Amino acid sequence: MALTELVKAILPDRYRQMAQEDMEARVREIKKEMGKSLFIPGHHYQKDEVIQFADAVGDSLQLAQVSAANREAEHIVFCGVHFMAETADILTSEKQTVYLPDMRAGCSMADMADIYQTERAWTALQALFGDTMIPLTYVNSTAAIKAFTGRHGGSCVTSSNARSMVEWAFTEKPRILFLPDQHLGRNTAFDIGVPLEEMAVWNPITDTLEYEGDMEKVRVILWKGHCSVHENFTVANIEELRRTRPDIKIIVHPECRREVVGLADDNGSTKYIIDAIERAEPGTAWAIGTEMNLVKRIIAQHSDKEIISLNPNMCPCLTMNRIDLPHLLWSLETIAEGKSGNVIQVDSRTAQEAKWSLDRMLARTN
Ligand code: 13P
Ligand code: SF4
Repeated sequence: MALTELVKAILPDRYRQMAQEDMEARVREIKKEMGKSLFIPGHHYQKDEVIQFADAVGDSLQLAQVSAANREAEHIVFCGVHFMAETADILTSEKQTVYLPDMRAGCSMADMADIYQTERAWTALQALFGDTMIPLTYVNSTAAIKAFTGRHGGSCVTSSNARSMVEWAFTEKPRILFLPDQHLGRNTAFDIGVPLEEMAVWNPITDTLEYEGDMEKVRVILWKGHCSVHENFTVANIEELRRTRPDIKIIVHPECRREVVGLADDNGSTKYIIDAIERAEPGTAWAIGTEMNLVKRIIAQHSDKEIISLNPNMCPCLTMNRIDLPHLLWSLETIAEGKSGNVIQVDSRTAQEAKWSLDRMLARTN
């Protein structure tokens, strides 16, 4: 980013000095003035101070669906991370503009696969496996990786539909390259019956395939990426709870390691976790392995149940947390003044190819 762009992307000081009530009042005012021309989608991991203003709250799949369905909002202020705002830009029309209130709100997992590494991996893997692979990418990836996936006949997946998308991919080709989250890929493939011995790991740093065994047996190639938040939930956390609280049920996000998911009672996307707690009997006790803002919100909404974080040192997603009330207000005031700032715009060729992979997913998901 050029220096002038960088300066434009830094929150002006006056927002840091404003009182919370004043900021809230101003956001309310702008929302009222702009009406339906403004749409604010918010991911479940966003802070309460932001989520209170969201017009739609959801997991990655739901937010992709609402963005695709919305045709009336001229301005979409995305409260989530960069790849989600890119997805919204790809799925909305040219007349709609998508903004990310803080351009530093990236995703460390999405950053673990870049397009150059991916092209190199594809060439090397094709030399090993020929034309037997289809790429699947978790939506937590850059638009360029989604475009790569689209070009090669593959699809996006989210944690809500990974299982059905992996099943679909196997009807297309005998092998899957799954980017960039090795854990979601491994957990999902394992769930549908692929043994761990049939999964290899592609290391994008060394450009090598990590696998010991008969190459012919490899059915899933997992990109060596992970979520730095969900890796903080450990087998030790589960063992400790099983020892001290045998009554407690453990539910985790499938971005957690295989061993953690294997020992938990249940796993699923953020929406799945929310629904499971919603359905649970009053008086039951739960430990949740996912991001802290969401766990705190679930705790606040369910005083009839005992809910704790699986990791007592709760794990925030630092990049999700970069979207806060001052940044949201700054973004809205910039738009209300008719200026442009923090716009997320995927170039048209990348967007077109990325849309193929998103459309394949959306067509196969309710
Ligand atoms: P979901 O909300 O789709 O479960 O995704 C979790 C996540 O890590 C988003 O970055
Ligand atoms: Fe990325 Fe993990 Fe944060 Fe989700 S929780 S945005 S995967 S770093």
